[in-house]
Parts: sequence; structure tokens; C-alpha cells
Amino acid sequence: MDRIRIVGGNALNGIIPISGAKNAALPLMIASLLTSDTLTLENVPHLADVEGLIRILGNHGVDIAVNGRREHQDGSYSRTVHFTCRTVADTTAPYELVSKMRASFWVIGPLLAREGQARVSLPGGCAIGTRPVDLFIEGLTALGAEMEIDGGYINAKAPKGGLIGARYTFPKVSVGATHVMLMAASLARGTTVIGNAAREPEVVDLANCLNAMGAKISGAGTSTIKIEGVTSLSGARHRVLPDRIETGTYAMAVAMTGGDVTLSGTDITLLDTAIEAIRRAGAEVSAVEGGIRVIGHGDQIRPVDIVTEPFPGFPTDLQAQFMGLMTRANGVSHVTETIFENRFMHVQELARLGAKITLSGQTARIEGVTRLRGAPVMATDLRASVSLVIAGLAAEGETMVSRVYHLDRGFERLEEKLTRCGAIVERITD
Ligand code: UD1
Repeated sequence: MDRIRIVGGNALNGIIPISGAKNAALPLMIASLLTSDTLTLENVPHLADVEGLIRILGNHGVDIAVNGRREHQDGSYSRTVHFTCRTVADTTAPYELVSKMRASFWVIGPLLAREGQARVSLPGGCAIGTRPVDLFIEGLTALGAEMEIDGGYINAKAPKGGLIGARYTFPKVSVGATHVMLMAASLARGTTVIGNAAREPEVVDLANCLNAMGAKISGAGTSTIKIEGVTSLSGARHRVLPDRIETGTYAMAVAMTGGDVTLSGTDITLLDTAIEAIRRAGAEVSAVEGGIRVIGHGDQIRPVDIVTEPFPGFPTDLQAQFMGLMTRANGVSHVTETIFENRFMHVQELARLGAKITLSGQTARIEGVTRLRGAPVMATDLRASVSLVIAGLAAEGETMVSRVYHLDRGFERLEEKLTRCGAIVERITD
């Protein structure tokens, strides 16, 4: 199993190209199930989760053609992938596949809308909390589907003639359930109005792509989304939006190590709340042409309290990284997690590097230390593992991060991007 070896202490200087967003690419790829035409996605990141979903979609009958990557001057790649689902080969998403990647559960929306039925395995447990699917069931039931749980699977059936538009308000904000409702309601008869919808940029990206395919969606990015159903969708060409989590992660890394880095191919407006927190911590962050410039001052990190919230609040997917940054602040800070109930597994591992963190319920109290010391650490989930990388970049000596497959799920060519900016980071393949 691969490991990442980091020798900390170097400032980061240079350009880091930001990839297409994993969390946008996954629902966009799933949207290809809604049409028999070709959906072409540009800027698709090369990540384990994307490759995994390509295999899953293949199982449902999607033909996939990947156009070679092109290298640009700043080191970035651009990958275009064509998805064509002439006919749906299988409306079942089996346990073996769904349990590996929760997002693959989302195929339930397009399969139900296009084929009138779907049998999808319940995703099962997940390292960062229970993550139930009640909101998906409620939402699709509101569109007229019969939803029945049987032997670990959800059997979903649309009424004769297809799903029916409806008004439905989520009791709780869910990104995944909002994606699924957008896809399902696009092919429903009549108009659907979703209340308390997720406002994440990835939801807007999916709505834009669906509209390019012929859907009639308005209000994405606000908490009320209106979808006028259409009888069929066509192909389209769409560019995946930049990854705001990768953007914030590298911005925090620079704030931690010091240095001057331009994050290219990204957009500062995708992560206002996180940028504000990074600025309050003492780094200079500004919008520049085609990206964001971050100037960090390493040793002079100020303590900042954050609370994770649905967009536009501070993203839960940047919580672990921000905690990594706060381990070296000049004082005490608090990080409160409100989205997932068990998303503090990085605390124990950060402590191995010398961080002083105490947990009380959903809040972590972080007492900044003047130095961290490298140590062997273990990644437990995607975002937790990259927080260990950030801490390792600022720690004295060697940090060895094991279980790197978590990182590979969501960070494209991480070691290469950091090495180009002066960090000592290498992948060790045993
Ligand atoms: C997506 C992102 C994930 C991010 C999360 C929150 C992808 C692939 N994943 O996950 O990286 O951390 O948004 O921004 O895009 N919930 C229910 N019932 C449901 C569905 C969700 O109670 O039926 C709860 C969850 O347990 C959680 C909260 O709602 O507490 C938010 O979950 P949700 O927004 O659905 O997260 P995901 O879409 O799984």
C-alpha cells in the first residue's frame, strides 16, 4: 500500500493548478444516465472516485471514451470524457459497488426517471457518520415513486407514465439528495419545487449542465429550486467547475508553511467563508487573473474559531485542514462540526505530531503550539488525510502518511503539485 513521506519545514512558492471538482464531476457523470445522447464533460479530474464511478456507470450501460490529458504550462492537465448511455443495461446498483462509493447511490434518481424503476443497494456505514438516506426516500416518494426497502436494497418504482412533479421541502439540507431530486424531477411530468435545497456550487454546476441538456431548472444556488419536467434530455458539453475544497486545502497549506503561491484555474467566489477564515488567520489572499494568490507568513498564524455549515457557511470538507492550520496558531481556537457527527478522526493523528486538541461533543479546542514534530500517521478518511499532509509540511522532520488511497480518492497528483512548489513530498510504493 502506498505511503506519502513528507519532510517538513519548506515554504511553498510557485503555481498550483486546481483540478475539476470531484464533488461536481460525480453527479455530472451520473446525469449521463438521463439521456441516450452523448454527454461530454471537460476538466474531469483523474481520481480514484472518478475511475470507480466510470466502472459503475459501465455496469449500467454507459459507454465511456476518455480523451488523453493535455499538459499546460502551469503543470495542469485537462481531461475530457464522453459518456453515452444508448440504453440502460441494468437498473440494479449492487452492494459491492455502492458500498465502495456512497455517491454511486445517486444513480437511483436518473434510473427511476428514465426507466421507471431502480434497485439500489443501501450505502451502508461510513467512516464519517451514519449518513442515512431518508431524505432521498422522502423526496422521491413526493414525486410519486413507491420506495420499498428489501434485503438491504431500495426497490424504487415510478407510477405508470413516470414520476410526477410535486412540491417538496427537505427537513434538512442535503447535497446528495438535492442532486438526485434535480435529476429525477427533470424528467417528471409537471413542475417540481424543492424547498430547503442545498445551495452548494456543485448543485449549481449540475443544474447548469442539466439545463444545457434541455432541462428547465431555475433557482439553483438559492434554497428554492423550480424544475419544469421535460419528456427527454439530449446530450451536451459541459466543463466541470474548479474544486473549491482542493483550492481551500492548498490555501491553508500555504498559510501554514509560509510562501507565495498562485492557485490557478480556480475562483475565489466559490469559497468566500473559508477564504475569510484563512485571512483572519493572517494569510493574504487575493483574486488574480485566472486564480487566487496566497501569501502565508508561517509562524504568525492567528487563532480563528469556525463552525461548519451548509453552503455558504464554512465547508465540512475543509474542517480537518483548518484544524491542521490552527495547531500552530498563536493561541486557542475552536472548531465546531455540525454536518457529520463523527468527523474528528484526524484529532488523534494530529496529536501524534504534537498538536494539543481536546474534544467536547461536536467542538474541538485547539491550543496552538510553536512547533510540530514529524511522526508516522494514518489517514482515516479523505479530508482527514490531507490535514495530516498540511501539518506534516510544517512539522520538523519526517512525517509518513499511510493509507494514501484515501488521498487518491480526492486529490489529483498531490505530491507532484506540492513538490513543484518546493515541498519535500514523495510517494513510497511498497
Ligand atoms: C456531500 C459531499 C461531501 C460533503 C457533504 C456535505 C459528494 C460526493 N460528497 O456529501 O463531500 O462532505 O456533501 O457538504 O459530493 N443526511 C440525512 N439523510 C439523508 C441524507 C443526508 O440525514 O438522506 C444528513 C447526513 O447524515 C449529513 C447531512 O445530511 O449529516 C449532509 O449530508 P449530505 O449533504 O447529503 O452529504 P453528501 O451528499 O453525502
